[in-house]
Amino acid sequence: MSSGQSERGSGQAITRRQMLARFGMIGGSSLMLTTMRAWDLMGQPAGPRPVLSGDRATARVVILGAGVSGLTTGWELAKRGYDVTILEARERVGGLNWSVSRGMEHTELGAGGERQVCQFDEGYYINAGPWRIPHDHHAVLGYAKELGVRMEQFIDDNVVMFAENPALGSLANRKVYLRELVSDMWGQTSELLAKAANQGSLDEAISPGDKELLVQFLIRAGYLDNSSLAYTPNPGTRGRADKYDLSALLQSPFANQVRSITAGTGGPAPVFQPSGGMMQIPLGFHRALGDRVRLGSIVQSVTQSADNVRVVYRDSKTGAQTETTADYVVSCLPMTILKELSINLSPAVKAAVDETGHAAQAKMGLQMRRRFWEEDDGIYGGHLNYLPYNPNAPQGQGGGGGGGGGGGGGGGGGTPNPIPSFSYPSNDYHSAKGVLLGYYGNATLVGIDGQPLVDVPVGRRIEHVLTHASKIHPQIRSEFETAYAVWWQRVEYSRGAWANNPGARMEVLNKADGRIYMGSAAVSGDPAWMEGAIESAWRTVESIHSRVNA
Ligand code: ALA
Repeated sequence: MSSGQSERGSGQAITRRQMLARFGMIGGSSLMLTTMRAWDLMGQPAGPRPVLSGDRATARVVILGAGVSGLTTGWELAKRGYDVTILEARERVGGLNWSVSRGMEHTELGAGGERQVCQFDEGYYINAGPWRIPHDHHAVLGYAKELGVRMEQFIDDNVVMFAENPALGSLANRKVYLRELVSDMWGQTSELLAKAANQGSLDEAISPGDKELLVQFLIRAGYLDNSSLAYTPNPGTRGRADKYDLSALLQSPFANQVRSITAGTGGPAPVFQPSGGMMQIPLGFHRALGDRVRLGSIVQSVTQSADNVRVVYRDSKTGAQTETTADYVVSCLPMTILKELSINLSPAVKAAVDETGHAAQAKMGLQMRRRFWEEDDGIYGGHLNYLPYNPNAPQGQGGGGGGGGGGGGGGGGGTPNPIPSFSYPSNDYHSAKGVLLGYYGNATLVGIDGQPLVDVPVGRRIEHVLTHASKIHPQIRSEFETAYAVWWQRVEYSRGAWANNPGARMEVLNKADGRIYMGSAAVSGDPAWMEGAIESAWRTVESIHSRVNA
């Protein structure tokens, strides 16, 4: 095939670039970026675990916040023999790492703040914060192993695609499975390449011997017929429906969904989740740290002097105030909370804290009385990619996972995706019920009521998801039982999801400000990943330990 500059379809010549632009995939749309993020930028592995030299551990350290960064900092210091206390406002550890299960609750901040109490059946949950761990995130996987947290595979592929654009003809408004796309795209392009090789078109690029081997490779890779080199779909892996037309695929946004390898694809680049919910990781740390973690302790003020740091905190149940002193304080609070705290930081650090924003991200879990996606569609984990082109959508809605959804990504440029990301559980297959991740993405996306979802009652957010998801899975309405919605900017003690990338602020935030350290994922190269939280914790631990041993 040529370089793809000119392809024909519907009797009209159109360049690939025009086609992508038509589907909002290039030319300033956020979709391409978001999709690339989800596929290619799965966070960066942290550097090696620090090796601490020096035996002194004669310091008392108070850590603010029992999220993954605070727990890691506390655990590493405690292992060295430091006197550690972790103050946590909530009645649970984990921070953003929250697996919501039966009986858990929160009341939304702001106007109309609704209280939700999770009604999922016993044993079901939704990971409202972190939900996947790439195989090379050795820092977080290392602690999971150390703390006895078992892992299972998380299917991170976009296993089903859906697009509403009528211009897609027979490919519009139907479930298009990744297995079909992979088979048909590889099969039909392998066929073209194998035939081109046999017709001598590749003679300058490849030797006659290698040409034979290449054709053999393409026959196996693309399920080609040995003699005719025609693509002959394998019904066992692809499914029995007829193959899709290559031209229709190339002119659709579906062709772009096929990659040689994606994170989360089984063996080659697996992604993991802890069995029983992501929160097993903070719970493991909590077991190890024991009563060094003080739950229900709301920090009121932090005052450093030349000699020590004085921390005042309030008991969330009794209101009693306690004062404690430490040699060092490590703040692992979200910047949204730290901004409001009475704390004597230097002007430069205070400014950097104030400048740090946190993402407006949301997740919703929907319990279904029946795992219809498994029973009716043969879908076992993975994501639905609701492609964003919708000619009837209002302009400028700006969807977007903003940091990587399940790959659904979000639309920009007036082609919003009403469900940025939607996922099927990669666990407890064939159990009686199941919790779908019905929504993951921008908390402020404009919903069916024409208002940002963050501003409408929880019931209307659920209705938004059911309205759109039922186009792909009509069963979702009758099988729906109960939902739990976590719109992070409306969650007390979080007031936002992950922090923005620190950029130049890193220089200021990653150094001690007197006796106070900033130790959260916000002060890392990967603020949207637990790996970043640990990277930041390791830097803090190293810095405190070398100071104590200086
Ligand atoms: N870490 C976030 C995710 O996995 C961005 O979706």
